[in-house]
Amino acid sequence: MRETQRAIELRSMVRGWHQAGERVALVPTMGHLHKGHLRLIEEAGRRNDRVVVSLFVNPLQFDRQDDLDTYPRSLNEDRKKLEATPVDLLFLPPLDLIYPYGLEQTTRVHIPRLSEILEGEYRPGHFIGVATVICKLFQLVQPDDALFGEKDFQQLLLIQRMVQDLHIPVCIHGVPVVRAKDGLALSSRNSRLTSTQKSLASHLYNALSKARDLLLTGASVDAVEKAATERLQQDGFRLDYLTVRHAEDMAVPAPDDIELVIVAAVWLGQVRLLDCVRVKLIKNCG
Ligand code: PAJ
Repeated sequence: MRETQRAIELRSMVRGWHQAGERVALVPTMGHLHKGHLRLIEEAGRRNDRVVVSLFVNPLQFDRQDDLDTYPRSLNEDRKKLEATPVDLLFLPPLDLIYPYGLEQTTRVHIPRLSEILEGEYRPGHFIGVATVICKLFQLVQPDDALFGEKDFQQLLLIQRMVQDLHIPVCIHGVPVVRAKDGLALSSRNSRLTSTQKSLASHLYNALSKARDLLLTGASVDAVEKAATERLQQDGFRLDYLTVRHAEDMAVPAPDDIELVIVAAVWLGQVRLLDCVRVKLIKNCG
């Protein structure tokens, strides 16, 4: 695995691979890597000849300074984890490479509506930060493929929308949520949970799975949302939202929609957990 902080070196490596007819994937991360990230990298290697992993804790997407300050960082451990994966290049851009005009004056990518609902409502400006940094990373790396986790379902849709709307020639692949044995979706921020909170945290996936089962047996969206919300509140979670949405655009589902996703953002103490479960309804004909 090679490593670089410089755009010129990154570009010349990727250009060499492309000239040799190789396909190049990008897996963007903010580090403190876990098995969810590693699954994305494996999948990138399966589909491509070369894999670039970027590691950049992007200040523009943090809506709270304390979250940015306490975001877990573990570069040396990350390097070790990456040695066992098919990564060819670790890209570690410095802040002034991504934001040469500073954070205030940077060009921003804003995707109306999709970036203002749900996560966008609770974390104002967050998705402008995400879309902006991913657009910049795509320009720098010029990958053929880029992989994103379904755990951040709205983020995945947002990136798909951005590449279509801006005609960015990158193929986006979503990868299913990787979970711990008890169901908890892996996340870098889980390292902030106490051991008691960690065992409670798995109740979120239980509640989402139960909600999916209820939808599959024909319960109404309202009833399902209400039951899951009450269940989690009783367990001591504070909810930002738990809602059933259309899986293509996060709109409130119409009665005949089949492809759904149940998304939730909840708090356990000071830690915010994000998770989702997809549901494909089978509608009776006639
Ligand atoms: P980060 O939280 O480091 O996640 C990097 C990628 O890993 C994202 O695509 C995320 O959805 C995926 N991922 C995280 N946990 C996962 C899990 N349990 N199962 C499957 N995939 C998982 O998301 C970001 O960074 C940033 O917003 C970024 C896209 C890098 C832009 O800064």
